Amino acid sequence: MVLFNVTRKDTTPFDGQKPGTSGLRKKVKVFIQPNYLENFVQASFDALTAEKVRGATLVVSGDGRYYSKEAIQIITKMSAANGVRRVWIGQNGLLSTPAVSGVIRERVGPDGSKATGAFILTASHNPGGPTEDFGIKYNMENGGPAPEGLTNKIYEHTTTIKEYLIAEDLPDVDISTIGVTNFTGPEGPFDVEVFDSASDYVKLMKSIFDFESIRKLLSSPKFTFCYDALHGVAGAYAKRIFVDELGAQENSLLNCTPKEDFGGGHPDPNLTYAKELVARMGLGKSESQDEPPEFGAAADGDADRNMILGKRFFVTPSDSVAIIAANAEAIPYFSSGLKGVARSMPTSAALDVVAKSLNLKFFEVPTGWKFFGNLMDAGLCSVCGEESFGTGSDHIREKDGIWAVLAWLSILAYKNKDKLEDKLVTVEDIVRQHWATYGRHYYTRYDYENVDAGAAKELMAYLVKLQSSLSEVNQIVKGVRSDVSNVVNADEFEYKDPVDGSISSHQGIRYLFEDGSRLIFRLSGTGSEGATIRLYIEQYEKDPSKIGRLSQDALAPLVEVALKLSKMQEFTGRSAPTVIT
Ligand code: G6P
Ligand code: ZN
Repeated sequence: MVLFNVTRKDTTPFDGQKPGTSGLRKKVKVFIQPNYLENFVQASFDALTAEKVRGATLVVSGDGRYYSKEAIQIITKMSAANGVRRVWIGQNGLLSTPAVSGVIRERVGPDGSKATGAFILTASHNPGGPTEDFGIKYNMENGGPAPEGLTNKIYEHTTTIKEYLIAEDLPDVDISTIGVTNFTGPEGPFDVEVFDSASDYVKLMKSIFDFESIRKLLSSPKFTFCYDALHGVAGAYAKRIFVDELGAQENSLLNCTPKEDFGGGHPDPNLTYAKELVARMGLGKSESQDEPPEFGAAADGDADRNMILGKRFFVTPSDSVAIIAANAEAIPYFSSGLKGVARSMPTSAALDVVAKSLNLKFFEVPTGWKFFGNLMDAGLCSVCGEESFGTGSDHIREKDGIWAVLAWLSILAYKNKDKLEDKLVTVEDIVRQHWATYGRHYYTRYDYENVDAGAAKELMAYLVKLQSSLSEVNQIVKGVRSDVSNVVNADEFEYKDPVDGSISSHQGIRYLFEDGSRLIFRLSGTGSEGATIRLYIEQYEKDPSKIGRLSQDALAPLVEVALKLSKMQEFTGRSAPTVIT
């Protein structure tokens, strides 16, 4: 038994330790300053209060990005010094964000213990490496991110912090080897348990999906599959689930070795950054020689995001959640039906149409996964999704990239049940069938990144002011395109949480058209430099003869209206967006 002492170290506050939507994210060079991480961790312990921290079981792990290994040792030593009873670490410090959420909710330690919270070390889809981003966020006992009440308290503590506690003489723990190490401090025993990163998550997935039917699909010679982890932590799960459990070919995994710098790439699963997968699926500019796989998917750094692709076919995240909800019968976890469904405000209304037609409870929440968590804790929502490549369910309290892939594979297996010998029902068939049944929501997002923050604010203020006169709005609209329908409503989105009654205002500006089209303007809450304006453009088409158009053709009139209405170029000086998704 190794004995350790507690040292009190003097420190002074750092500016700007305010956690954003998903924790504190900064460049590595900021995080490695002496006491920077220590201050934030101590502020978190202080905000949680000593009463909650003493005797607690904490999970500490993340997406494996650069600086994680050092951070894990620091947090472990600080946990010991603050009276935490045990720390759980995924082997090599790897646990995906959804896996952490699952571990908090489900895992029982060898001595019957359960986790009370987690420090997740990730900056999600931001690049990693010595010159890139690191991040840390705290998740609660329900497996979901800390609510704003707590993150505000953490921030307050960071502004007044004077000292932190650390067990300096605690030896570094070997996080590459599974096992328990026992220590003793002034307050009694302290244990560190390193466990397999994937086992608990695999078990959870097996309790949700019918692995046997997915295995049949994946082993059919007709069905070809490809999964790209973009060198993020999803790689630690992909081989276990897709290859070992479900029988996919080993060569169907791309970039599935987790790397500290994500191989120098940008681990964000979209058509711009998942280049290799996009090319393999026949969607790239230069088409590859080989026949693309039937199904492709990608994840972000911490594996909570997903992108779903069919052969030469992109499934928008807004359609994806609607299709999963409409086909929930393919997933055993939902065998007694869906409690309700929810989407974020800028996500297309494809899910609304499904909810209405299936008579399901429906919620429209502001951007940010935490809003779904409250609904799920109250038993109001089973499936939810966001346009920003996040999809998930109430099995945990984070979005879940691999869950989304398994949901799609389940639907494919279900649709192809008993007819794997015939022509395969493809991803594209499923989406087109969905459009034929429910109508299609043409959808695109324009991002204006790193715009001058003042200019972005002015543009938003202008749009809010304009909303007071719909006749003026319609005059502008008609002046630009007479073929676009009338704006019948315009507002700034405000949300009253049906569970705790809290109100979130200024969540984006909406222009709602008579034919169901929507234009939404929002400032990103996750950018790190300047401001990012997001413009979401959506048009609903019910006529089955008009659902097969190219998205950019169908949306061209609305795009023109949006740019003129917002005076985008005038305010930002930009003649084109930085990214279109
Ligand atoms: C993170 C959150 C998502 C949210 C997204 C929005 O990924 O986990 O829930 O949709 O940020 O980002 P934005 O930059 O649009 O604020
Ligand atoms: Zn993420």
